[in-house]
Amino acid sequence: MCGIVGYKGKRQASSVIIDSLKTLEYRGYDSWGVAVVGNPSISVVKEVGMICDADTINNLGSGTVGIGHTRWATHGKVTEENSHPHMSSDGCISVVHNGIIDNYQALKEQLKKKGYVFRSETDTEVIPLLIEDFIKNGCSFEDAFRKTLSFLEGTYAIVSIHKDSETMICARKDSPIVVGVGDGEHFVASDSPAFINHTNKVIYLENYEMAVFNGSFEVRCSITGDIIDKKVQVLDWDVEQAKKGDFKHYMLKEISEQKETITKAIHQDDKVLQGIADAINESYGTFFIASGSSYNAALSASYTFSKIARKHINIVDSSEFPNYEHFLTPQTLMITVSQSGETADVLDAVKVAKKKGVKILSIVNVMGSSLMRNSDHTLLMNAGPEICVLSTKSYTSQLAILTLLAYACVGKLSEGKDLLKSVADHVGDLTDPKTLLGTVELASCLKDKEHLYVIGRGQSYSTALEAALKIKEVSYIHAEGFAGGTLKHGPIALIEEGTPCIVFVPNDETRKEILSNAMEVKSRGGYIIGVSDEENDIFDFFVKVPDVGHASPITDIIPIQVLSYYLAILRGCNPDRPRNLAKSVTVK
Ligand code: M6R
Repeated sequence: MCGIVGYKGKRQASSVIIDSLKTLEYRGYDSWGVAVVGNPSISVVKEVGMICDADTINNLGSGTVGIGHTRWATHGKVTEENSHPHMSSDGCISVVHNGIIDNYQALKEQLKKKGYVFRSETDTEVIPLLIEDFIKNGCSFEDAFRKTLSFLEGTYAIVSIHKDSETMICARKDSPIVVGVGDGEHFVASDSPAFINHTNKVIYLENYEMAVFNGSFEVRCSITGDIIDKKVQVLDWDVEQAKKGDFKHYMLKEISEQKETITKAIHQDDKVLQGIADAINESYGTFFIASGSSYNAALSASYTFSKIARKHINIVDSSEFPNYEHFLTPQTLMITVSQSGETADVLDAVKVAKKKGVKILSIVNVMGSSLMRNSDHTLLMNAGPEICVLSTKSYTSQLAILTLLAYACVGKLSEGKDLLKSVADHVGDLTDPKTLLGTVELASCLKDKEHLYVIGRGQSYSTALEAALKIKEVSYIHAEGFAGGTLKHGPIALIEEGTPCIVFVPNDETRKEILSNAMEVKSRGGYIIGVSDEENDIFDFFVKVPDVGHASPITDIIPIQVLSYYLAILRGCNPDRPRNLAKSVTVK
């Protein structure tokens, strides 16, 4: 979590950095800070809450080298002192950091013994103090930075500046850093949307690589100091994709983009897709590994694989995967699903699997992400940047690609493509502005509810989980998803007069039984919201969705994404930045 940025060039650094930080707020938004090299000292601004601009930019001066940070607190409360950048005690060095320094307490004790005083509760503060200590002992800024890295255990993406040198340095281990290469200027960030309006030329740093920006720019191995030749890549994401346009929030913009993103998701190289399907067929055990919404998409796909390809898939939440290592052999196949490609639990699962010789395939949205670089093959979702903390368009893109793979497993790739093309058209209808507004009525009727339940069977069970996740994470209404059959084993005790229950009733083998479950809820006073292609007397409120067969999880979730958005708006919540959350969960 946390977003870091750095800039060295010819423009006013503070203004570039503040703009960049705003695009990275999805990574954390508890507090923020900026430091700019000035004359005679480094100017720093740190604040809790929203990033503000005009005055801040002026207070930071006209310096052209600087760093910034937007925080998701891990070590230490949300306070100004704990927010980054952190300074050395002599005020000469400033550092921003994303990750966790596991051995910070031991390092802190050693530094305290040397007389250093700590101003924050963070793990990060050891970094500028260590650099300061090495400089005091005769090292250059660059050497002191490199030596400091050798003492750090844990994960880090760090950018640092020094007051007397025009040098900016960054390095990473297990937390992402991408360098933007502009015309006479360089950008450093956790993610490329931070600088995409300045350049689309990027260099991805690998673990134990360190980039030094002085007059020129070079990447060195942070252990040996050797120069590493890096390739500049060109991103095909553009500025407009990372902007809100006429939409009030990214969430609504991204929901509305889904006709296009599904179309792009299925635009894959057929040979590569078929190759992956063949690998699934040949594997001795396939695992789908993911977290959060990506897990729900993978769970949904495990039903699709069973129905279409008659193939059993093991589906495991990435944080639990290390417990399954005993079942892995070189014949096992792991398919990881992740929007960001930076989820720490997913990356950790990959590490565990690789040790056992398992082949890794990934379905990822962010090109150049750590997951992509650690996979044997990747299918890119092509959804463009997803800025809202909630997964919406990435979820349906994942479902589309996984559905296509299931069809490819039985040699029916073109049948799968035809189905998904028609799904994209239906999605266009569901996200039409007029249809979106229809959901406001339902949101108004639910906005004051404290609890809400969602049920589904088969594939729709995973849709129920995803629907409940969407509603709770953005509106803070307590929402739980259950398999329809589970109700009578306990959850039905929660139903009271007026308790809302969303029921997914697709035109498949689950229809009869899920309607009985809905009736059981209604008989106990529940208010039934039916999401179906067909009206039914049991429904108190009917949400019409098309009948798209095996692809119904894609269309069924869309009205609930929209409902979640309006619930957030009516309850005064910011849909793009729900409390306590961050878009990329880069710590375990
Ligand atoms: O980037 P990933 O797809 O790996 O992220 C996984 C989850 O953190 C993510 O889906 C999360 O659950 C979202 N907040 C859901 O809206």
